[in-house]
Amino acid sequence: MDSRKQLIKNLPKAELHIHIEGSLEPEMMFDLAQRNGVSLPYADVESIRAAYQFDCLQDFLDLYYQGMSVLQTQQDFYDLTWAYLLRCRDDNVVHAEIFFDPQGHTGRGVDFETVFEGISAALRDGEHKLGISSQIIMCFLRHLEEEDAMATLIEAGPFVDRIAGVGLDSSEVGHPPSKFQDVFDLAGELGLRRVAHAGEEGPPEYILEALDGLQVDRIDHGNRSLEDPALVGRLAELKIPLTVCPQSNLRLAVVADMKDHPIRSMLEAGLNVTVNSDDPAYFGGYMNDNFNALVDAIDLSEAEIIKLVNNSFESSFLDKASKQKHLESVRVLAGA
Ligand code: HPA
Ligand code: ZN
Repeated sequence: MDSRKQLIKNLPKAELHIHIEGSLEPEMMFDLAQRNGVSLPYADVESIRAAYQFDCLQDFLDLYYQGMSVLQTQQDFYDLTWAYLLRCRDDNVVHAEIFFDPQGHTGRGVDFETVFEGISAALRDGEHKLGISSQIIMCFLRHLEEEDAMATLIEAGPFVDRIAGVGLDSSEVGHPPSKFQDVFDLAGELGLRRVAHAGEEGPPEYILEALDGLQVDRIDHGNRSLEDPALVGRLAELKIPLTVCPQSNLRLAVVADMKDHPIRSMLEAGLNVTVNSDDPAYFGGYMNDNFNALVDAIDLSEAEIIKLVNNSFESSFLDKASKQKHLESVRVLAGA
């Protein structure tokens, strides 16, 4: 094995951009459809996989929302999350900050509590049985109205102590961060962290709105920041984390070829970038696959791998002592 792929395997890593519903593998989708008597427009697992050809974000989202319709009981959400945690164990992801989309479930009659308790129970077991720490980030669907997001935040009230932060996802263009100013302000008053998808398909102005308006701690994706040198300078100076998702970028045509992936330019510009899987069941791979794809396509170096892994812990919502512990173990394992 290429020594860089061995290094990727050996290093502990944090994942900061993973939609738990996007880790629903076709096999589980099929099993849960049977368990819950849901009919899917596919004859078998192969036809589900064959349908995963996307020209843009919306193509993917249409199948993502259709796929999540099989998730109905607390056990379903437990099984989904547990399967992701086993992938974390395989890839040496020791800390995960997990997005979920409550409105994708409450909108079709599944209670918030069912979703939240299923995910939480698996994360608790992940901590105890696998030694993987985790936090939960609740995302608002930006194609819906701010009122719906506000109602979701209020519905999350009884669980807010167990939620690390709020995020913003779904169809980006035409739904700027400013549409969600009030709900993000309230989340801030509740002591929640704030992150937002911005600059995946949307313009650099959306990244500015997320920073200056929504007061986010991190930008999810952020690729299009590169179109605005002043913005790049500011993101670099403030060390704002950008949670970049290489295989997602390729599969959603944010980049035309993995060889064109801008992660090296981002690192060279001093941006605080991390590598993440986004929706691994839909985009062809989990954490290590994303790193390996960069080794193959752009000859990602050992030093770049170590930098990206360090960035993942530094950009996490872990406390200082936990960050130090992980950074020290990266240092030892990297032989630096
Ligand atoms: N972008 C926006 N919304 C999403 C994504 C994404 O990559 N994945 C799941 N919801
Ligand atoms: Zn995402």
